[in-house]
Amino acid sequence: MIPNSSLSNDVKNILGLQLPTDPRWVDLAGISLGAILTDHAYCEQKAATTCISLIQRYSDREKLVKELAPVVTEEWGHFRMVLAELQKRNLPLGKQRKDVYVNKLIEFQRKGGHPEDRMLDQLLTMALIEARSCERFKRLSEGLDDTYLRHFYRRFMESEAGHYTLFLELAETYLPKEKVRTRLMEWLEYEAAIMQSMEMRGDRIH
Ligand SMILES: [Fe+2]
Ligand SMILES: [Fe+2]
Repeated sequence: MIPNSSLSNDVKNILGLQLPTDPRWVDLAGISLGAILTDHAYCEQKAATTCISLIQRYSDREKLVKELAPVVTEEWGHFRMVLAELQKRNLPLGKQRKDVYVNKLIEFQRKGGHPEDRMLDQLLTMALIEARSCERFKRLSEGLDDTYLRHFYRRFMESEAGHYTLFLELAETYLPKEKVRTRLMEWLEYEAAIMQSMEMRGDRIH
């Protein structure tokens, strides 16, 4: 598997990410918990929706369809869990914000060229979003004051790490491993540059 997918205690380089989140982010997130929950809910909704789109787009890829079908259910389950947390706090779901992070990732996807290369970029986009979400959930699971929420985020962290691995496995199913690795390195570099350029905000997951 590439790169190391173990959940080490060291946040640096978690799942290959090149730029660790600023430790101050979790303090900001703790202050705007309602906004974080809303943003998180939509991240889960988008994960479910994108998996459905991938199944539609690559319906001839047996393994992809088989593996992503249960992920749709899982991500939608995540959405419902976050929604329940909002409801517990008497907070509405609220409006979806513009997702700068994901939009910037999509800009890096190759739009032309070989269809397999486009698929690779789509799978790697998902892998990167899972990795960064996992890293942020790890921060929350370690840094929030509330014990219940720390556990809550620990479960998400583990689940998204598994999805990261799955997206890479799918990429390696359909493309040569070396090609996947080379492109993944380019993506990791690009993702770090996005993170660097973005304003740190406590009201969103990314
Ligand atoms: Fe999720
Ligand atoms: Fe996920």
